[in-house]
Amino acid sequence: MIDNPFSLSGRTIAITGGNGLIGRTVADAILRSGATTLVLDIAAGKASGDNFRYEAFDITDLDKRGERLSALEAAHGEISGWVNCAYPRTSDWGTALEQISNESWQANIDRHLNAYCLWSSTVAERMAGRNTGSIVNLASIYGMVGPDFTIYEQTTMTMPAAYAAIKGGVIAYSRYLASYFGHKGVRVNCVSPGGVFDSQPEQFVERYNKRLPLGRMARVDEVCWPVVFLLSQASSYITGENIAVDGGWTAI
Ligand SMILES: NC(=O)c1ccc[n+]([C@@H]2O[C@H](COP(=O)([O-])OP(=O)(O)OC[C@H]3O[C@@H](n4cnc5c(N)ncnc54)[C@H](O)[C@@H]3O)[C@@H](O)[C@H]2O)c1
Repeated sequence: MIDNPFSLSGRTIAITGGNGLIGRTVADAILRSGATTLVLDIAAGKASGDNFRYEAFDITDLDKRGERLSALEAAHGEISGWVNCAYPRTSDWGTALEQISNESWQANIDRHLNAYCLWSSTVAERMAGRNTGSIVNLASIYGMVGPDFTIYEQTTMTMPAAYAAIKGGVIAYSRYLASYFGHKGVRVNCVSPGGVFDSQPEQFVERYNKRLPLGRMARVDEVCWPVVFLLSQASSYITGENIAVDGGWTAI
C-alpha cells in the first residue's frame, strides 16, 4: 500500500491554460501536491520560482509538437502528467447559432477541439514510450447533456453551439486515446465541470442554483482536486473516464 497515493511528488506536470480561472487553482493544487508545475499559457501569470515554472505557449500552434514537447522536457524534466485547461476561442464566440459563419465555427473547432486532441495524442505517444503517464482533459457538462436555455433568459449569456461539439469530441477522443495507449501504461481521463461561480448575473445564478441538486454553483477550487486525483496513483486503475464535477447537474 502506498503511503500517500494522492502525492505528485517528484513528478513534472504540465497544464495548458494554467493562468485561467480554473487553471490557476489546478496549477496551485498540483504544486501543493508536490510536483514541479509547468504552466503553459499564452498569457503570462505568476513568475517562475523553484517548483513553479511558466512558459509562453500557444496550444493552437499545432506544428512540430514533438520537437516542442522535447524542448519543454529538456528544460523542465520528463512530463508524466499533462492537463489541458486552455480555453481558446474566437472574438465572436457566443454568436447565436443561426448567425455563426463557417469560418468562425471551423476556427473554434480547430483552436479548441483539434488542439486538445492533437496535443493529447503527442503527449500520450511520448508517455507510452516510458510506459507511464496521465493526461486529464477539461471537458464540460455540455459535452454530456444539452443546455437548458431557460437559465440564460433575460441575460446576455448563452451557451455557444460549437462548445457542445468541442466538449463532446474531447470526451470521446479521450476514451479513444485511453483505449489506444492503455496497454502502454498511459491513462487518459476527463473532468467535466458544471458552472463555476464567477460573478455571473444574479438572475442567472438564481436559476442555475435552483436547478441543481447541491443548490449552488461550483467554487473554482472544487474543480482542481478531482484533476489531481486523476493525475495521481490514487486513480491508477481509472482510464477513459469522465468525472462530472457539477453539483449533480447531470444526475437529474
Ligand atoms: N469556467 C467554467 O464554468 C467552466 C465550466 C466547464 C468547463 N470549463 C472548461 O475549463 C477549462 C478552463 O476554463 P476557464 O473558465 O478557466 O477559462 P479561462 O478563460 O478563465 O482561462 C483559459 C486560459 O487559457 C488560456 N489560453 C487561451 N487560449 C490559449 C492558447 N491558444 N494557448 C494556451 N493558452 C490559452 C488563457 O490565457 C487563460 O489563461 C476550459 O476547457 C473550459 O471549457 C470551464
